[in-house]
Amino acid sequence: MMTSIDEGRRYLAERLADTVAKALEADLASRERVLLVVSGGSTPKPFFSALASKALPWSRVDVTLADERWVADDDADSNARLVRETLLVGLAAEACFHSLTTDDDTPETGVEAVSARVAALPWPASVVVLGMGGDGHTASLFPDSEQLATALETTEATVAVRAPSVPQARITLSAARLADAHLHVLHINGEDKRRVLADALGGDDARQLPIRTFLAQPIATYWAP
Ligand code: 6PG
Repeated sequence: MMTSIDEGRRYLAERLADTVAKALEADLASRERVLLVVSGGSTPKPFFSALASKALPWSRVDVTLADERWVADDDADSNARLVRETLLVGLAAEACFHSLTTDDDTPETGVEAVSARVAALPWPASVVVLGMGGDGHTASLFPDSEQLATALETTEATVAVRAPSVPQARITLSAARLADAHLHVLHINGEDKRRVLADALGGDDARQLPIRTFLAQPIATYWAP
């Protein structure tokens, strides 16, 4: 039985899928290949399901992640697994997915190869869809990470990240790489995240609330209670 909260979040996810499909179609009119960057976590699932049913030339769409946990791609915590199971299905199964992991034991040893892989994608992205955690992180730009300053300042495409607040080592697209898009979207649910966003909008220290990095440029916020 869906609650009104669930229905509202599903409605929002479907509107976001409409927006993203239109943005991809607009770029496909003038580019052979287009790029979609999505985030993992729990919020995007209904969005991915709605987008997967859109009639697009998906074989011309490259898909990658804003960040990834450094786990096997069949691990329950893998964002790649989430994308493969909920977005790259149905009509969208034809899209070309580019993971952010390698067979290396750590992201520090794999990051150079992943950066080359990401840099070779058809930037600027048509759309970058960001999530946000309760600590104001986005992608794997965590306020308690020693690599945050590097990830905010580097021109490299990806950065290996560790943070006390998360159990797994991570790899994230850098702020500069994530900024390179025609459309940015922030997709969040719940009152707690609305309050974090309100705090973020009230200041400019991105090291305190890394989402602020993306609030100094146009970004479409999709929020449901
Ligand atoms: C990840 C995500 C991360 C996510 C936020 C929000 O790998 O976890 O990329 O940045 O967007 O943590 O996650 P929820 O949607 O689960 O709240």
